[in-house]
Amino acid sequence: MPLLDHFGLLAPFYEKLIPLQDDKPLWEYLQLPVDGPLLDAGGGTGRVAVTLKDSAPQVVVADESFKMLREAVRKDGLQPVGTQTERLPFPEGTFVRVLMVDALHHVDDQRRTLAELWRVLAPGGLLVIEEPDIRTWSVKWIAVMEKVTLMRSHFLPPSRIVDLLPVNGDAVDVHTEGFNAWIVARKPS
Ligand SMILES: C[S@@+](CC[C@H](N)C(=O)[O-])C[C@H]1O[C@@H](n2cnc3c(N)ncnc32)[C@H](O)[C@@H]1O
Repeated sequence: MPLLDHFGLLAPFYEKLIPLQDDKPLWEYLQLPVDGPLLDAGGGTGRVAVTLKDSAPQVVVADESFKMLREAVRKDGLQPVGTQTERLPFPEGTFVRVLMVDALHHVDDQRRTLAELWRVLAPGGLLVIEEPDIRTWSVKWIAVMEKVTLMRSHFLPPSRIVDLLPVNGDAVDVHTEGFNAWIVARKPS
């Protein structure tokens, strides 16, 4: 757990501080709608998941912060689950889409988290990870600020995220736009 409960403190204001910007790339990369369940891992207040709730029969928001999840509970159509992404309480192949937005750099164990996201993804399903791109100066600056405020952030460049995925790199696409990177991987059927 982090030294300070940053997300617990931010939870009531989180969506005012960080309003959702352009979510078009997400829709494109997730290839929505789908007819199976979608997981938003590290999904916090459900800020992103709520925009996707009509595009899948079940939208699960998994997060370790109960204060962030308390905001998700208030949104209709989401299923909040309190858990760490390193140990997801779902059977193998549960979700046809798995999403992680702006959270991978916050988890304790990135390798284990990626292995778990992959495990719960159904064969033929898509994993989409959005991360601030640490190769850009603005994100390097954010990384310094997060260190100063004692967040345990650890940003990885997109190529390193791809290397950590338990799949051949040919099955993974990386898209960059501004200071964000999207890693899109399809699990073989
Ligand atoms: C920057 S917020 C992003 C929230 C959401 N994805 C969004 O874009 O609005 C990062 C989230 O990751 C969660 N988180 C950090 N480490 C985690 C872990 N190991 N397991 C589950 N959630 C975690 C935090 O509690 C927080 O809600």
